[in-house]
Amino acid sequence: MSNERVATGVPGLDKMLHGGLLPGTAVLLRGAPGVGKTTLSFQFLKQGIAEDESGLFITFEEFPAALYRDAASLGFDLQAWEHEGKLQIIFTSPEVLLKSLQDPTSIICQRLRMTDVRRAVLDSATHFGRLTADDLELREIYNTLVNSLHRDQITTLLLSEEQRSGYRQTDRGALSFLTDGIILLRYVEVESTIQRAIVIFKLRGSGHDCKIRHYQIAEGGVVIGEPFQGRQAILSGISHRI
Ligand SMILES: Nc1ncnc2c1ncn2[C@@H]1O[C@H](COP(=O)(O)OP(=O)(O)O)[C@@H](O)[C@H]1O
Ligand SMILES: [Mg+2]
Repeated sequence: MSNERVATGVPGLDKMLHGGLLPGTAVLLRGAPGVGKTTLSFQFLKQGIAEDESGLFITFEEFPAALYRDAASLGFDLQAWEHEGKLQIIFTSPEVLLKSLQDPTSIICQRLRMTDVRRAVLDSATHFGRLTADDLELREIYNTLVNSLHRDQITTLLLSEEQRSGYRQTDRGALSFLTDGIILLRYVEVESTIQRAIVIFKLRGSGHDCKIRHYQIAEGGVVIGEPFQGRQAILSGISHRI
């Protein structure tokens, strides 16, 4: 594997990652609804386009009009990228995607190979949980997913939904064990206001920043700030003064 890094395009995050993601790795981006996962993934794809790397956005989430509108409100013109042939957006279901990944002749696999996609986003991996109630079977599904991404040497962000309250760590299917890295986004209650926190939990093959940092969302996306100071239990969602 080369030492080159895949820049995320998020101001401050590449520094936390000691330069960026390792090429061909699949990294989990976890967080509650609205925390900024999809936004951050647009920045990742935008950075790729700036570096002449084609991107793929696979979504189970939204109707196209809503996706384009939400992206536009943050300053991302997804349709322009599609028209320029720099981005493919696939609106599909977990069932269809899983079948496609298992079949090299499927249209999705062919599109992946023909267009030389270098970066991909799956929004979100959590939806595979609907396919089965059996945790072992779900783990197999995630294995298929992560293996096919590794095989194609695509650097991928796998988005994963957490509950907004309680932060009970359900990791059905143990996706966090299969991925090469974990980036966590959290709402944190500080002095009766809600702030946002980002932390890197794991990054195979690389060092990384272990600090829990503030971040904000503005037009253009996520911007990383300073580390939290003088607080503890930040990741519980309700922090205390030290
Ligand atoms: N122009 C903007 N400036 C600041 N915040 C924005 C803007 N547009 C959307 N947001 C906020 O950014 C967040 C977008 O979250 P999103 O990336 O969709 O989260 P997730 O994918 O984790 O559910 C929302 O909380 C929304 O309120
Ligand atoms: Mg989202």
